[in-house]
Amino acid sequence: MKNNYYITTPIYYPSAKPHMGHAYSSIVADFFARFKRIQGYNVFYLTGTDEHGQKIERAANIKKKNPQDFCDDISQIFKDLTKTLNLSNNDFIRTTETRHKKSAINVWKILEEKKEIYLSKYSGWYSVSDEAFYSEDEIMEEDGKKKSKLSGSLVEWVEEESYFFKLSKWEKPLLKFYNENPNFILPESRKNEVISFVKSGLKDLSVSRKSFKWGIPVPSNKDHVMYVWLDALTNYLSALNYPNTDDKLFNNFWPADLHIIGKDILRFHAVYWPAFLLAANIDLPKRVYGHGWILSGNQKMSKSKGNILDPIEIIKNYGLDPLRYYLIKEVSFGNDGNISEEKLENCINSDLANNYGNLCQRVVSFCEKNAELKVGEEIKFNEDDNLELLKFTDSYQNIVGFIDKQDINSYISFIVERLFAANKYFNDQEPWKKKDNKVRLNTIIYTSLELIRKITILMYPIMPETSIKVMSIFNYSEKDIKLDSFIENNFIKKNIKLNKIGILFKKIDKND
Ligand code: MSP
Repeated sequence: MKNNYYITTPIYYPSAKPHMGHAYSSIVADFFARFKRIQGYNVFYLTGTDEHGQKIERAANIKKKNPQDFCDDISQIFKDLTKTLNLSNNDFIRTTETRHKKSAINVWKILEEKKEIYLSKYSGWYSVSDEAFYSEDEIMEEDGKKKSKLSGSLVEWVEEESYFFKLSKWEKPLLKFYNENPNFILPESRKNEVISFVKSGLKDLSVSRKSFKWGIPVPSNKDHVMYVWLDALTNYLSALNYPNTDDKLFNNFWPADLHIIGKDILRFHAVYWPAFLLAANIDLPKRVYGHGWILSGNQKMSKSKGNILDPIEIIKNYGLDPLRYYLIKEVSFGNDGNISEEKLENCINSDLANNYGNLCQRVVSFCEKNAELKVGEEIKFNEDDNLELLKFTDSYQNIVGFIDKQDINSYISFIVERLFAANKYFNDQEPWKKKDNKVRLNTIIYTSLELIRKITILMYPIMPETSIKVMSIFNYSEKDIKLDSFIENNFIKKNIKLNKIGILFKKIDKND
């Protein structure tokens, strides 16, 4: 069995500081990476920065910096953010690195050798902000300005000599591929969008630019730089040491299992990318998941609206794990979702302080007061205990299934449901009335601790730091967090002394 799993985030433009939208894609990818690791997979999680193109060149010019220095500074901020978000990425790729340039040039050369690329002239609309070519019917006029109907970004007219990729030729093979691989694009609604776009007819794609210099030079014609999307998409190969296809990383991890992206860049990943790969005769990735937008005040974040949320500010005020939890739970995965401080505070109070935090604290304090923090030797499960424990055991396959379909919503609903049930179990069993029945008292404490342990395993991909803290109750460390142990109901050792933990989540008093 192939036990390797390759997951990627988009590589971000270092044209401005990262915002909550970037943090979201990375946190979601981290969630999947961590889950697959505790499931026993050897995971390679890649993120990085997309540093070429006109957008970056212009942003650098505005700051009067050369593009490389400009990228060095902002890329470092994105790299620092991986630490602030506690991402478990295995690599951070920059498209200005030599290893990447080598890989992109190799793809270009293959496409040229295979006569998939030809020289002609482009005249049409281009959005520097999206780094995308748009056809006439994708353009609208607003306030006297030409804009893309798809993204609302300004477009400008471009006329220049350009190399073209024979995208039109891949229309039918792509449709066949989508048909044979019905889960290549998720969620379903986005897949339909892509298929109708391809069915409407694909035109050859301009893949080089001549009017500026900030890019990877076309190997056979130094007057041109490669189109930034062809350059950027190959990052997923570069990090695995492509073009060295004998390399262990490439062998283990290509084709990628999951490209996590925002819905804005679906066309590039679900149409252009597989077409480039088909043409270059390289295996296609297994899945592209296009998630929705993080909205602030019900609107897409943008500089002009002044509603950009800085993840670092939120983390300073509320902590990282609450933010990770919020983004995973409150944003229905696949759809747009709002974030506001008020909603975040409500979520921290209701789910984290009152539910999860309360369960952990209350069971451990009860054990401290009534059993000297010891897990008793004699335990006898009754039907009530078994019923609660089996809810987890029986759900193992479902949970793995949720993750393999990227159904985060069902995953988190399961956790929240089990959390309520665990708190209710402890209440209903009234251990404070069982102090004279040692075996029953031990068993209620033990069962509650097992429930905490199981819930905490599932929480780990969402809130790694908190989960490690909770696991320290049992003297377990991160390496002991394994999905398999979730099936066992007698995992916690008997006769051990528990460790106390401090308050996990502080309730936010709105009157403060
Ligand atoms: N550089 C390209 C991607 C190349 S991948 C080969 C790019 N970069 S970007 O900096 O604009 O980041 C795009 C990604 O950031 C989106 O696809 C999405 O994953 C994430 N987000 C940016 N803003 C977002 C929101 N407001 N909400 C959610 N995610 C969004 O496009």
